[in-house]
Amino acid sequence: ASRKIAVIIGSLRKESFTRKVARSLMLLAPPTLDMEIVEIGQLPLYNQDDDAAPPPVYTEFRDKLKEFDGVLFCTPEYNRSVPAALKNAIDVGSRPYGQSAWGSKPCAVVSVTPGALGAFGANHHLRQSLVFLNMPAMQQPEAYLANIGSQYEGDKLTNDSTKAFLQKFIDSFAVWVERHAD
Ligand code: FNR
Repeated sequence: ASRKIAVIIGSLRKESFTRKVARSLMLLAPPTLDMEIVEIGQLPLYNQDDDAAPPPVYTEFRDKLKEFDGVLFCTPEYNRSVPAALKNAIDVGSRPYGQSAWGSKPCAVVSVTPGALGAFGANHHLRQSLVFLNMPAMQQPEAYLANIGSQYEGDKLTNDSTKAFLQKFIDSFAVWVERHAD
């Protein structure tokens, strides 16, 4: 049986490198993973006052998330942390209290940057939220993708060692999901 994986992308930019990496991972994924991008750019800023009568896009997002067995988070780094759009999506999905749409789904984190440091800050700030959400986050391999700007020609990943790493990463994630899915 295949496992349904929600792919969450922390950049809203059209030509996002993070989205390109997410797409590469989807192409490399073993057939046991059925991966689908779940968009977050339509979500207004979370306001707890709306819990009683949530905007329809919140309900759609929460209901959509509940269809999945696991989550792959792909994020850029903004000011050494998680972009607000991604944090907002995490917050929206986590409420109302006690009804988190993230469930305790197994997940993994990939951080992406054209810079040199691999977006470590975003990767680990995101992991902090995942602890509270009780989502088992794959520990190894860690994915800090640096210098990504020179590794794509259009949507095609041209760096063979990065490609081999992404293959290993997504294969490991399939094992992780199988171990933690109910
Ligand atoms: C950035 N960028 C950035 N990069 C990084 O490695 N560490 C950082 O802390 C930051 N901070 C930061 C803040 C803000 C507000 C912006 C807009 C950008 C650069 C960032 O990595 C670059 O814009 C990437 O291209 C963003 O990812 P996507 O959109 O290509 O997926």
